[in-house]
Amino acid sequence: MNIIKVKDSQAGGKKAFELLAKDHQDGTLHVIGLATGSTPLSLYKELVQSDLDFSKTISVNLDEYVGLAASDPQSYDYFMHKNLFNQKPFKHSYLPNGLATDEKAECARYDRVIAEHPLDVQVLGIGQNGHIGFNEPGASFDSTTRKVKLTESTIEANKRFFERKEDVPTYAYSMGIRSIMQSKKIILLAYGESKAQAIKSMIEEPVSENCPASALQQHDNVIVIVDEAAASLLGK
Ligand code: F6R
Repeated sequence: MNIIKVKDSQAGGKKAFELLAKDHQDGTLHVIGLATGSTPLSLYKELVQSDLDFSKTISVNLDEYVGLAASDPQSYDYFMHKNLFNQKPFKHSYLPNGLATDEKAECARYDRVIAEHPLDVQVLGIGQNGHIGFNEPGASFDSTTRKVKLTESTIEANKRFFERKEDVPTYAYSMGIRSIMQSKKIILLAYGESKAQAIKSMIEEPVSENCPASALQQHDNVIVIVDEAAASLLGK
């Protein structure tokens, strides 16, 4: 893994933007995997302010809450439109459909989307428990898209986006670890002390399904962008 330490999330967003802009310029960025949450916001700001043209680029998001319509302000679809797609339209942007009633058909549809649009770069955040996408601890490294139950730790971490903790959906559709690992390049971003243990487990502890992000040790093109707080538990 190539670890890049930055001062803060703003500098991290700039660094990630530079990497993506270079791939875009080189003509190698046809399909980009995207994440939601607080972490990628500084990157999305950079993308929005840039003059990069994504009208020929496809985006594929990692996950969506089960039970939320795309128009629901808490949905990831809404989040992506508000923070990126409305200002910077892509050729096509794919997300799982949170309202799909046929779970199997929806997962199969999304796996087809990923198969038809192989990821050039996947942008990731990381959960405090080491999750990537919504692949929670214990998820198989062989997993593909499926409906997953969110852990208490994830619900606790995400309740800040909702009025009440009870409003946080308890299930999500998530791209699997196998699909994430098939991306040619992975850029994982992490900021703040709350991510320090997850970053240490991901990089320095043995590969284990207890830390889904540790799967990335087995990928040969991973760039980790961390601020000092998130890197604070790493050995020198
Ligand atoms: C979001 C996602 C999650 C987040 C993670 C960190 O699409 O897949 O894995 O990246 O929960 O969230 P933040 O960035 O809010 O700390």
